[in-house]
Amino acid sequence: MDMISTMSKAGVIPVIVIEDIEKAVPLARALVKGGLPVLEVTFRTACAAEAIAKIKAEVPGAILIAGTVLTLEQLEAAKAAGAEACVAPGFDPAIVKAANERGIPFCPGVATASELSQALSLGCKFVKFFPAESAGGVKYIKDLLGAFRWTGVKIMPTGGVKLSNVNDYFAVPEIICVGGTWIAPKDAIKANDWAAIEKLASDAAALVRAR
Ligand code: 3PG
Repeated sequence: MDMISTMSKAGVIPVIVIEDIEKAVPLARALVKGGLPVLEVTFRTACAAEAIAKIKAEVPGAILIAGTVLTLEQLEAAKAAGAEACVAPGFDPAIVKAANERGIPFCPGVATASELSQALSLGCKFVKFFPAESAGGVKYIKDLLGAFRWTGVKIMPTGGVKLSNVNDYFAVPEIICVGGTWIAPKDAIKANDWAAIEKLASDAAALVRAR
């Protein structure tokens, strides 16, 4: 998968935490129906790999990314489950190298110039900036880019991104997409409120179209 072009087209990536495997398919259906087909299913719960495989098999149009990939075991499990690419909140050179060796597109997380510099050295042209709002938000990213723009790096901020600040991030050309949990909130998942999630997704998708 060409991660940069797929993520850029999607614009907003729901960061998903599946506690109960039965929620995976209806949740993914609501998000895809709302206009957000690229889904980051995080390895923060035991059923992440199963959720990726199930959504891939049952939800046409969904494009599966594994998130919070911190270990080699998770990297292998994500690939086996059918994830097209992996994302991590931090930068671990061992995992990035393992992904490169296996031909798995990998987007590491960075929050400093040093981490970004190391990620670029390992060939990562696309990084997650996490936790975006706490680390300094749009202003911090613009300042970082002052030194790194020439590298052509592309950025996906996550952490504190929500409908009300998405456009601030979209105003930075190197930010090709944003991610967040606001589109798949815990309470709505718990309540099986798929209509509410579809609406959150379509509100976000409208901002992507207007970008
Ligand atoms: C992530 O891993 O991208 C974050 O958990 C998303 O942060 P948020 O919950 O503030 O959207």
